[in-house]
Amino acid sequence: MARGKFLSIEGGEGAGKSTQVRRLADELRARGLDVIVTREPGGSEGGEAIRNLLMQGDVKRWSSHTEALLFAAARADHVEKVIQPALGIGTWVISDRFIDSSRAYQGVAGGIDDAAVLALHAFGSRGLLPDRTLVLEVPPEIGAERAAARDGAAADRFAARERAFHDDVVAAFRRFAAAEPDRVRLIDAAGDVETVAAGMIEAVADLLP
Ligand code: TYD
Repeated sequence: MARGKFLSIEGGEGAGKSTQVRRLADELRARGLDVIVTREPGGSEGGEAIRNLLMQGDVKRWSSHTEALLFAAARADHVEKVIQPALGIGTWVISDRFIDSSRAYQGVAGGIDDAAVLALHAFGSRGLLPDRTLVLEVPPEIGAERAAARDGAAADRFAARERAFHDDVVAAFRRFAAAEPDRVRLIDAAGDVETVAAGMIEAVADLLP
């Protein structure tokens, strides 16, 4: 049996990821594929327990280094317990965020070397990379507006960071796409839901059986 394909969806705050993740899963299922949708941090029982540590509390609760370790640990559990078993039985996996979020948030925006983030990933998750990574891009001011409208006063530790941090995140994803054009594709997410969804399916069309 052919292995499933592994897709990750990335983006800054308020890029509309969750809606588009659901849409992409529906489109792939309509083409006869088995698909699971999962997320990071979280996605497995252990991963979700670590997620609670990461998302709650004061912005300064964890240093960038500790954060990078916690994200890597959550990812290791997620890969071992959920992602690899699914791929192994031919199921496609769509993960709402994956390693490129660690490279962008803890790495570029948090000041940790990309090589160090990738070394943790090599150790924890055997360096598993998605077959395709779609980065949803909206101008940072639109993203901030959408995120504020969604979260109100309930912004988590990450959403509460200042504008410069989020600008670094957006710039980082753009650099990853330039460096690895085969794996990482930028999707203009400023348009309406249908247009963006069409762009997403087009960006994985060459992977379809
Ligand atoms: P989430 O509520 O899932 O937000 P979003 O809708 O933006 O995906 O929160 C995930 C937050 O964790 C998000 O701000 C990005 C951050 N994050 C990292 O900093 N590093 C990581 O490796 C991952 C997976 C997420």
